[in-house]
Order: sequence, then structure tokens, then C-alpha cells
Amino acid sequence: MAEFDPGPTNAFATHWDNRPSYASVKARFRMNWGPIYYRGRLDGSAKVIIIGQDPAADENVARRILVGSAGQRVQGFLRKLGINKSYVMVNTFLYGLKGQIDAEAKTISASASIKNWRNQLLDMLKTGQTQAVIAFGTGAHQVVDLWPGAAGLFVAKPLHPSFRDDAGLRANWNTVLPQIRPNVTPEVAPDMTPYVGNTFKKADLENIPARDFPFGVPKWMGTGDMAWRTSPTQIAWKSLAADG
Ligand code: URA
Repeated sequence: MAEFDPGPTNAFATHWDNRPSYASVKARFRMNWGPIYYRGRLDGSAKVIIIGQDPAADENVARRILVGSAGQRVQGFLRKLGINKSYVMVNTFLYGLKGQIDAEAKTISASASIKNWRNQLLDMLKTGQTQAVIAFGTGAHQVVDLWPGAAGLFVAKPLHPSFRDDAGLRANWNTVLPQIRPNVTPEVAPDMTPYVGNTFKKADLENIPARDFPFGVPKWMGTGDMAWRTSPTQIAWKSLAADG
């Protein structure tokens, strides 16, 4: 039987049930799809805590975060650290943000109810196994800056996987990866190849493992097909023809 994620344990389900209200800021969020909470290990085995920003279309369907274009880039990043299972991911916001991470979004993120609840969640995710927190994008950078529990962990602040300039993003990730490697014990041989060239290729991505999805999702989910079907301009890698 294919692996699947059985979902949260009681403590996490309770904390997520007690999530902060976004009612006063709902104009900035896509509330219709509901909150989307996490991806990865909730059993305390995560060596790496990943912080993203907010869910998009693929995440709405999968009910797990970072599974679409951005997520497949992050999964490729984790491959370069030799991490294929021992991670857990949460976002800055539970709902999709309308527009960019701007001053208003940062104020919302830092508001007491959202910040304190999120810090409690991060405290629950941090265990004796946790070695590093990797925050992708300026919204996520603020999240770690606001989280006292980040003390004692190696903190990395790379650019967000959807950063508008692929070349700049790839150069940034090439700089950050060697800084993280000595601080995270790999579980498989790390992929030591740097990002070469200015655009993402299929080889730079990694499929989202079946064990990260709920039971019953189609096989192609998390492999690029969904984003490809939705919009050829929004696939996680470019130059389809050139790449075969
Ligand atoms: N980008 C993020 O930062 N998080 C997601 O869940 C999806 C895209």
C-alpha cells in the first residue's frame, strides 16, 4: 500500500482547532478554502523546521502546504541537504494571502493573536531532534525573528522559492546551502550539485513524497503535473521542450 500521512495527533489537532481568528483582516486573505496547516512529520522526528509564507492553489486541493511549484523547489533544496523525511513545514499564514508580503501583511503577522499562537505551534514542533529552522522569504524571516524558540537552532533565511528573479534565487540558494550543511545531519547522501544556469529545470525539483499527502490523492499530485495542467506559465521549472 502506498504511504500516506495519517494526519495530526490530538495535541496538534487541538492547537489547529484553536487557531486565531482572521475575521478582522479577512480582506487580505483567501478565506474560502479554509486554513491549511502543515506538511511533514508531527511525531517529533523532524531535524529541520521549514517556514513558508502562505498556501496557493495546489495546497488548497492537497490540504498540505508547499506541494505545488514552490514546494517542489523546496523539496529539491532538501535533497541537497540529504533530508528526505525528517522535516516539518508550516506557513507564516494559515490562509492564502492576497498580494505580496508588504508592511500590512507583516503587521498582521506580528499581531499578538497570530504571533503568539504561531509561536506556540513552533514550540510544539521543536524537539530534541530539531537542528535547524529554514525560513523561506521575508514573511518567514520575520516569523523566526519573532519566535524566541529559534534560539539554540541554526537559522537560515533564504529567498522564497517563488522569488521573481530565478537567477537571483538560485544564486542565493547556492550561497545558503553550504552554510546549512554543517548544521544538519543528513539522512541520505546530500546532492552536492549547485544550481547551474538561470532557470529551474526538472532536475532541480523533487517530487513531494506520498507519505506527506493524505490518503487517496492521485499519484501525480506533487509531481508538477497539476501546476502544468493549470497554467503552463506557472510550472515550477522552465524550458519544458529543452529539458525533455
Ligand atoms: N508558498 C509558500 O510559502 N507556502 C505554501 O504553502 C505554498 C507556496
